[in-house]
Amino acid sequence: SAREALAQLPKITKKDTYRVGFAQTESNNPWRIAQTKSMQDEAKKRGWQLVYTDAAGSAAKQVADVNSMIAQKVDAIFLAPREEKPLIPAVMQAKRAGIPVILLDRSVDPSLAKAGEDYVTFIGSDFIEEGRRAGEWLVKTMNGKANIIELQGTTGSSPANDRRKGFADFIKDHAGMKIVASQSGDFARDKGRQVAETLLQANPTATAIYAHNDEMAIGAIAALEAAGKKPGTDVTIVSIDGTRDALQAIIDGKMGATVECSPFFGPIAFDTLVRFGGGETIPPKIINQDRFFDRANAKQFVAEAY
Ligand code: AHR
Repeated sequence: SAREALAQLPKITKKDTYRVGFAQTESNNPWRIAQTKSMQDEAKKRGWQLVYTDAAGSAAKQVADVNSMIAQKVDAIFLAPREEKPLIPAVMQAKRAGIPVILLDRSVDPSLAKAGEDYVTFIGSDFIEEGRRAGEWLVKTMNGKANIIELQGTTGSSPANDRRKGFADFIKDHAGMKIVASQSGDFARDKGRQVAETLLQANPTATAIYAHNDEMAIGAIAALEAAGKKPGTDVTIVSIDGTRDALQAIIDGKMGATVECSPFFGPIAFDTLVRFGGGETIPPKIINQDRFFDRANAKQFVAEAY
């Protein structure tokens, strides 16, 4: 409401250690597990108490998780919102309770909640840029000609919306680049495999797959192999994240490239809260600097990958 929009961002008092919540969206992939570990490691290192919840892939549960953190009167909440719209009530309830929220990795609908007003800031990757970089690599690798199957992330999530847009905006100037099918695989390996199987059957002329994350790309490799096609040769695959399995698939020649999306939020998340607690004005967005992995460097980074 208009009244909420006028109310101020909650403040916190400066303390040596904070008791903070981390509302995770799901734990069914290596990226999420690495993100959770990064938050837990940082809390331990600083001697902060971390109230951790896992919404297990349900936006409704994630709203309830945030409400339980509010009831426990944590000092601040780190929220990785599963979807852009359904988590708005959680952000607003925390604000009403006077508890600052920092959005981690995913964002909420910018027309419904604002950084610096409703939540402190968004910390994460530029998902539009990730999609653009994936598109740029594919155009170059395919010499501007490809029939593309797109495996989208979780419907209504900011990474799915923005990775789709960044990629589409880039390839639209290349007439030979066509998205022949596009469907959600919910950022999950097995769902990605199932969707890829169906879309490959319906589109036998597909020459490329753009997956919104590595887990779905790995699922697509399995679908291609089951269909008797050679991933990396018959069909070129590009995706996003930089997991160990993806880097190994690049080394094995089954996948072409992956745009890094770092899950290591612990240090930057806790530092930002300390700065906020110290009275500093925090910028509305803090964007991670991500790398790019392909045949040229996958070997160099696979051992340190998650
Ligand atoms: O929000 C970031 C995305 O969420 C990652 O790319 C994906 O693997 C995760 O589930």
